[in-house]
Amino acid sequence: MIARGGAVRYGCAMQRPVGIDLISFHTPAYYLALDTLAGVRGADPAKYHVGIGQDRMSIPPPDQDIVTLAANAAAPLLAKSGTENIGHVLFATESCIDLSKAAALFCHGLLGLPPRCRCVELKEACYAGTAALKLACEVVRNHPDERVLVLASDVARYDLGSPGEPTQGAGAVAMLVSADPRVFAIEPECGFHAEDIMDFWRPTYRTEALVEGKYSTRMYLSTLRSAWEGYKAASGRGLADHARFCFHLPFTKIAFKAFDRLCRFEGIEAPAMEEQEALLSPATWYNRQTGNTYAACLYESLCSLLDTAEEDLSDKRVGMFSYGSGCMAEYYAGRVVPGYRAHLFAAEHKKMLEERTELTYRQYEDIYTYGIPQDGDSHLMAPYRSGPFRLAGLENHKRRYERAE
Ligand code: COA
Repeated sequence: MIARGGAVRYGCAMQRPVGIDLISFHTPAYYLALDTLAGVRGADPAKYHVGIGQDRMSIPPPDQDIVTLAANAAAPLLAKSGTENIGHVLFATESCIDLSKAAALFCHGLLGLPPRCRCVELKEACYAGTAALKLACEVVRNHPDERVLVLASDVARYDLGSPGEPTQGAGAVAMLVSADPRVFAIEPECGFHAEDIMDFWRPTYRTEALVEGKYSTRMYLSTLRSAWEGYKAASGRGLADHARFCFHLPFTKIAFKAFDRLCRFEGIEAPAMEEQEALLSPATWYNRQTGNTYAACLYESLCSLLDTAEEDLSDKRVGMFSYGSGCMAEYYAGRVVPGYRAHLFAAEHKKMLEERTELTYRQYEDIYTYGIPQDGDSHLMAPYRSGPFRLAGLENHKRRYERAE
């Protein structure tokens, strides 16, 4: 049994449950409607809304990057819980702004975290968010009085006019990992799979990712099988033991493809589409509105499920499938902690999504083609609706951030 304050059998010892104590997400205040993109690219809008399951893509203005997105995601969470005992900041991203310094350190400074803190950046495409969360759980299992701040933050960019373009997006998720979590207790059993492939990659000299989209989708679904089989062997559980599922979402239609595969692996006929919609859609609403957030995707999906599911999910098991191109896949599960609703930021998330500004195609292309100055001179960044944290400017090749009033 897993319950707040209860115990979970892990290995031979009875240990306190560990997992997500608080979770919050942030996305830019600007978006491009995929209807607008369809008009310009000559595509049928239904291809985007139905075929890939996306409605809008978040566009970060020039004064926003992975650091400000992550700091903005973490701010409400730290305002609620304080910064005491945070001994690690693990920052997962595949859109790094510096090849040496960890983005975690910029956030450590902006968020006023204690100096006794290990701050690192982790990378394995979209899987890095899960790697960071699993490492955080291990730290807390060994040191139950410590808390770990996990930040997953990304800006998804593909070439203009490429098949990947409508699946762009941007956003960050912040998770505070602790013992006796108030929101989501993570169970220790998992199955994972590694394979050296080239389905999606971004050489250091490019700002846009390259993707073999159809190959990547095939690998996503085939590694789901290995990860699921590993999980089943470790846990002895089957599909019926899960109330809900969150999948990595480069585009939300893939959740339906993945669920269909899980049913097939188990020799079960997938339920009628209406039933699948009711089961899976709450875990896709936010992602439909933001587009791909890479390392943050799966946890944005969890946020979406917890915030928007009408049913009380207390004590329900949620299956989690993480996929990172290249590739790494992992299936694990967690239990929603009774009373979780009192600890969500659902109202803030709803307000943030409702108050975004729609861009014209021209504005989108202007932002897309704007390049961060690379000459080392002093530059001030024009202010957009990026708060509370924003990139104020650059000088001598150094980024300078500020907290807006
Ligand atoms: N109405 C409804 N559905 C339509 C449609 C229409 N008018 N036109 C096309 N579709 C459907 C297609 O049938 C297809 O569905 P299916 O996948 O169930 O067969 C889907 O829309 C996509 O269209 P398609 O033309 O096959 O693909 P595409 O060349 O536009 O590429 C992706 C789609 C998802 C592969 C592409 O956007 C991509 O590569 N995205 C990046 C994915 C990524 O980042 N992966 C790596 C991380 S996991």
